Amino acid sequence: MAATDVLEIRSMIAADVAQVAAIEVASFSSPWREDTFHALLARDAVELLTAVEGSTVVGYAVVWCILDQGELSNVAVAPSHRRKGLGRRLLKRVIEVAGARGVRHLFLEVRVSNSVARALYQDFGFEELGRRKGYYDDPPEDAILMQATLGSTQEINDLEDPPAT
Ligand SMILES: CC(C)(COP(=O)(O)OP(=O)(O)OC[C@H]1O[C@@H](n2cnc3c(N)ncnc32)[C@H](O)[C@@H]1OP(=O)(O)O)[C@@H](O)C(=O)NCCC(=O)NCCS
Repeated sequence: MAATDVLEIRSMIAADVAQVAAIEVASFSSPWREDTFHALLARDAVELLTAVEGSTVVGYAVVWCILDQGELSNVAVAPSHRRKGLGRRLLKRVIEVAGARGVRHLFLEVRVSNSVARALYQDFGFEELGRRKGYYDDPPEDAILMQATLGSTQEINDLEDPPAT
């Protein structure tokens, strides 16, 4: 990264997808393929966000927004950029974008063993609704279903911004 590059979160574009897919491979045992991201880019109901430093993709998030319900279906940060507050920044932006589209109830599934992600979601007010038995393959595992009720703009603004990376 060049010294002048600052971290920016913006809408995903097709040119990001190869780098996004590489982070996906580094992050998940059953990664989404590039085709999946390209297909989602064409769907109005899906918001895809990319975190970039200059021309380098360092994280992304995918959220479905249908009427007042949303589903955070993917979020990941490049291993080299984890634990610097980027996951928080992405989640905050997801909540802003989904809220602006009228989402009031934001859902997600997370592996039972993914204590890092569960801690992050809990910090953002996600609550556990229940467990989906055998939801994941490779390795097989249950999912925890979580939900957050999105509040007013004021509440979203009150979420603390982590220091810039
Ligand atoms: C989950 C993930 C997106 C978090 O991204 P990140 O940029 O590292 O997260 P942040 O630096 O913003 O950390 C946010 C919080 O997450 C939790 N967290 C992050 N890394 C952690 C770790 N190694 N151990 C424990 N908690 C951790 C902490 O609560 C942390 O808050 P804190 O730094 O104030 O303690 C990232 O770990 C990742 O990409 N994981 C692989 C993909 C994945 O599991 N996605 C979620 C699928 S449901």
